[in-house]
Amino acid sequence: MMTMSGHSSAVSCVKWGGSNLIYTGSHDKTIRVWDAKDGRCIQVLKSHAHWVNHLALSTDHVLRMGAFDHTGTAPSSPEEEQAKALKNYEKVAKIGGKIVERMVTASDDFTMFLWEPSRSNKPICRMTGHQKLVNHVSFSPDGRYIASASFDNSIKLWDGRDGKFIATFRGHVAPVYQTSWSSDCRLLVSCSKDTTLKVWDVRTRKLVNDLPGHSDEVYAVDWSVDGGRVASGGKDKMVLFYHLRIPKEKMSIPSQPKVSLIVAALIPKLGIGYKGQMPWSLKKEMAYFRKVTTNTVDPSKKNIVIMGRKTYESIPTKFRPLKGRINYILTRNLNKCQTDFKDELLTNEGNLSVSTSLEDVISNSSKDTSHVEEIFIIGGAEIYNQLLNNHSDKIDRVFLTEVSLTTDKDVEMDTFINIDPNLWKKTGNGELESYLESKGLKEDFTLKGNEEKEFKFDFTLWKKSVN
Ligand SMILES: NC(=O)c1ccc[n+]([C@@H]2O[C@H](COP(=O)([O-])OP(=O)(O)OC[C@H]3O[C@@H](n4cnc5c(N)ncnc54)[C@H](OP(=O)(O)O)[C@@H]3O)[C@@H](O)[C@H]2O)c1
Repeated sequence: MMTMSGHSSAVSCVKWGGSNLIYTGSHDKTIRVWDAKDGRCIQVLKSHAHWVNHLALSTDHVLRMGAFDHTGTAPSSPEEEQAKALKNYEKVAKIGGKIVERMVTASDDFTMFLWEPSRSNKPICRMTGHQKLVNHVSFSPDGRYIASASFDNSIKLWDGRDGKFIATFRGHVAPVYQTSWSSDCRLLVSCSKDTTLKVWDVRTRKLVNDLPGHSDEVYAVDWSVDGGRVASGGKDKMVLFYHLRIPKEKMSIPSQPKVSLIVAALIPKLGIGYKGQMPWSLKKEMAYFRKVTTNTVDPSKKNIVIMGRKTYESIPTKFRPLKGRINYILTRNLNKCQTDFKDELLTNEGNLSVSTSLEDVISNSSKDTSHVEEIFIIGGAEIYNQLLNNHSDKIDRVFLTEVSLTTDKDVEMDTFINIDPNLWKKTGNGELESYLESKGLKEDFTLKGNEEKEFKFDFTLWKKSVN
């Protein structure tokens, strides 16, 4: 037996991570990180102002599942089991090629903090919004979201990567004690002092099922990893099992992915490039492009980005393929492209593919409604113009960043796009705002009047006037 002393008050939560670190939260307001090999305290995290009630790791679910997943397919050998467990773990824990376990902590001070304890003892983000103490936190199985349960009767959803607030689930009429995720990340169940359990659709943020049955406060809940059953227990001394049958009409039906063209152009002539390069480098615009093309409403899905071979080549090697998205390169010379990008294609299997047909990529991806949320055409000029001039029927909308100059100075352009004003109409700001809100991005961007260097730019959304 080993004794690890350091906390000066009761220890409220203990988690054993996947990198042989033990994380403990305490009523002394601190979180300690211990090396499980020798019991050494390697980090003391001190940002909370009151008791630490609970903590969760981005890897909690994957450590519980090991080599298995909710589809019930079992590995055929111990070696395969080990390899699959490692792959599953790395899928959630690897950031920029390194294993980084993220941790979220919930406190009596009404706040939460997001941490990467192996990197720093300073938090990544302070997460505020709850009006009373936060009792329980959990990462979604894929690590992309965080759910928090609070005594303010609400559950809040946060971005698991940067801690940004996304949405509030309201329906309980008394403190919420815990939540638990379905393995496919689509549903969340919560339990409350109001004696009920409630099931929420994470994508639509709607209540899909009320589970009565307890005669008193429900303190704890867990979801079976196969997704079919929920177990709960509470003050009435009963443990209840629920067989979940969510009526189909209550679940959000996966809609066909929308195809969008996303581009930044200098108005009024819509210049987009010069000598094969972007005419500007605008930080906020780049962040907008990255987040709009990466974020999804449904945490279990990804977006597709399709680009011409030249645009792919223009992305610095360390940033490609574009992360968090499924990348497609278009070429007319498949063999050459496959040879040129051989290593990248091998190491990014599943996230990077080459195709000779834009139509095929769009039509095949559109059918994969359970994995693909949106399809973005991200350039360059040749691809944009083929679509805008001859195949606008394949595009549902255009995300156009309208760039203009704040000085008299001119910017040289040799590449332009053509957005037919008889076909495309700019939507009101409200439509783009709702879209960004659904992806948890409303607070991140101001649509009009952004300024950087000698440029001013507005984010706009265009739809076909016949729509
Ligand atoms: N402002 C913006 O938002 C923005 C965004 C992206 C790019 N850009 C600008 O756009 C310019 C680059 O555009 P670009 O026209 O030179 O190159 P591109 O469109 O990125 O790539 C052209 C290549 O795509 C392949 N291709 C084109 N049509 C195809 C089809 N129908 N089927 C299969 N493959 C096809 C061909 O590759 P192979 O030669 O391999 O056959 C072709 O050479 C740069 O100036 C860049 O900065 C601007």
